[in-house]
Amino acid sequence: MKNISSSFLKYILGASCFFISFGSVAQKTSKDSIDYKVNLLLQKMTLEEKVGQMNQYNGFWEVTGPAPKEGNAKLKYEHLKMGWVGSVLNVKGTENVRKLQEIVVKESRLGIPLLFGFDVIHGHKTLSPIPLGEAASWDLVAIEKSARVAAIEASAVGINWTFAPMVDISRDARWGRVMEGAGEDPYLGSKIGVARVKGFQGDDLSANNTIAATAKHFAAYGFAESGKDYNTVDVGTSTLYNIIFPPFKAVVENDVKTVMNSFNVINGIPSTANKFLQRDILKGKWGFKGFVISDWGSGMEMVDHGFAKDLTEAAELSANAGSDMDMESYAYITHLKALVESGKVRMSVIDDAVKRILTVKFELGLFDDPYKYCDAKREKELIYHPDHQAAALDMAKKSIVLLKNSNDLLPLKKSQKKIAVIGALANDKNSPLGSWRIGSDDSSAVSFLEGFKKYTTNYKYAKGADLITEPATFINELKINETDISGFNEAIQLAKQSEVVIMVLGEHGFQSGEGRSRAKIDLPGVQQQLLEAIYKVNKNIVLVLMNGRPLAIPWADKNIPAILETWQLGSQTGNAIAQVLFGDYNPGGKLPMTFPKSVGQVPIYYNHYSTGRPGPKPEVFWSHYGDESTKPLYPFGYGLSYTKFEYSNLTITAAEQATIKVSVMVKNTGKIAGEEVTQLYIHDKVASVVRPIKELKGFKKFMLNPGESKVVEFVLTEAELGFYNNEGVFTVEAGDFDVMVGTNSEQGLSGKLSIK
Ligand code: GLC
Repeated sequence: MKNISSSFLKYILGASCFFISFGSVAQKTSKDSIDYKVNLLLQKMTLEEKVGQMNQYNGFWEVTGPAPKEGNAKLKYEHLKMGWVGSVLNVKGTENVRKLQEIVVKESRLGIPLLFGFDVIHGHKTLSPIPLGEAASWDLVAIEKSARVAAIEASAVGINWTFAPMVDISRDARWGRVMEGAGEDPYLGSKIGVARVKGFQGDDLSANNTIAATAKHFAAYGFAESGKDYNTVDVGTSTLYNIIFPPFKAVVENDVKTVMNSFNVINGIPSTANKFLQRDILKGKWGFKGFVISDWGSGMEMVDHGFAKDLTEAAELSANAGSDMDMESYAYITHLKALVESGKVRMSVIDDAVKRILTVKFELGLFDDPYKYCDAKREKELIYHPDHQAAALDMAKKSIVLLKNSNDLLPLKKSQKKIAVIGALANDKNSPLGSWRIGSDDSSAVSFLEGFKKYTTNYKYAKGADLITEPATFINELKINETDISGFNEAIQLAKQSEVVIMVLGEHGFQSGEGRSRAKIDLPGVQQQLLEAIYKVNKNIVLVLMNGRPLAIPWADKNIPAILETWQLGSQTGNAIAQVLFGDYNPGGKLPMTFPKSVGQVPIYYNHYSTGRPGPKPEVFWSHYGDESTKPLYPFGYGLSYTKFEYSNLTITAAEQATIKVSVMVKNTGKIAGEEVTQLYIHDKVASVVRPIKELKGFKKFMLNPGESKVVEFVLTEAELGFYNNEGVFTVEAGDFDVMVGTNSEQGLSGKLSIK
């Protein structure tokens, strides 16, 4: 290139930069741009009105009734009219939403529409399986569709924002909220998180059947010590960057509109006031353009944490750390104005938060039509729509995992006679909905028995034992039946005279979920006793599990010939299970979370480090227990089929642009068609930060007919081969890798590759 003087070159660059910036300024200030509208509105707002946008209240009265006349509800009502509320949660129904929206739009000075948030976790009225169950499908198309249906029904009742997906990775089955996530793996969790966000937000957020999504809980909430909800979190940098962050980063890169911070501390700093998390990483490194909402009262809880001396300081610390909206702490609405006036919180902090919130409202189209989600006719038409039930059934079938099937006891013949069905959960229309069903209706699930009887009348039912001794509620501790075995005898007599026994056992719907951690993860109450009592008189048992977390069921695995993991499958539970039991659907699910042999092994997960003493060794000085195996009961990625798949011809070849092609032949060697999830794992054997002995870096789900073969291909790039070092820098290091491709994280064909 001709040697142009540096000053001239600078000039050209300067000019071009000016031109570019001018261009971008021109683009930014076009009156149609949301940016322009946001800035124009912001300039009109008083400080109180700005703070109001950062304030979220829980629904606070039956809006169809008279306006509240006293107490907190009256205060909130007044604030609505003053434009001091940016969002409400837990308000549903087009009539209620319209009424609240009218108050704000017609009576407040600027008429800025409200966001209506709700926990639409796995459906709204029509419920799909709990998220951990959906994750077991490894079917991203079905998972996206499931979120799409949830968004359609939620938007039909006036909701324009869901507090989902929860993308917290967790390795601890004692934690109640494992039911709400996608399990233990960051690669699978990232893919599923993105699918869910796409389902909720769709292609056009301004449409009236798409809603803003929330990635939660940022961050590390799933690593609560001892699996005890809300407990301390203390994780290392490498776990933070390589296990916990990736699903959040993935959904931020896929335009998730909001992020919810978490109740826990990280390195002794509560997430809600954690600058490193919210400003350095989320809004800084990752360039997140949406807004951060606190979790319920997490601002106020900083006083309990011992991080803020009072609510005023909690407000100051949260706002300055990048928590943009305050859910039910009353911290911002009470103290933020004074904090700005005293200079403790800069106006620029407020303006940034408010612009982020207003931007989402513009993107949702709320300024064009604040009542676009308030169509009573649409509400009536779409709730529980048959298409939604069909999607829920499809998702439910795909979520079922076959854990054991000795002597091909399953599928049952449709002509099977003398079937015994035993277990309280078989007749439960609530537990299969899971714990996060606040939008749906009680007893709205198709129970196991209701689905089963569509296939056969050749059965008799005995409860055997109650699961709980008092009616369950969303917020109170459950009273588990630990002693009453008075129903055993009836069940035993029935089993004696039956050819096959189906036992439906597991957890009550409110034994997992928020605030629902368990120190024991076996079959609750007297169910194990019941199972063993039935086994004594009839060994031909199919165990159908209904649960919200991995359970430790070593006795069942050893003795019971067939075991189906059915999680809590939502509205279509009974229909989905019956289709699998009678072979109209061949199960193809794979575990998204390791099942332990005992709670003493927890946390137990497949992608663990080697340690310096992986063993085994003849003497005791290696990493193990003297009284328990180090192996899980069922590993991550595990799941059987009614057919068999054979793996052969693993090939690993270097391709162009530092990509590596991996392929394997998979054959259906059984007699019926079936779906397989082929999984690709790597092990970076030596690195500057130790790497797990195995990491999932690809999976493909496909159907094969009997005798059919398929070459399954993967491409490994830097994105899969690299990792974050302890400075948070993504790096790919030369060295040797083990590669495994197979049917779960323990079984497959192995190979090697090297990066020079
Ligand atoms: C809860 C949960 C959060 C939920 C929020 C609103 O405490 O932690 O996931 O979205 O409050 O219900």
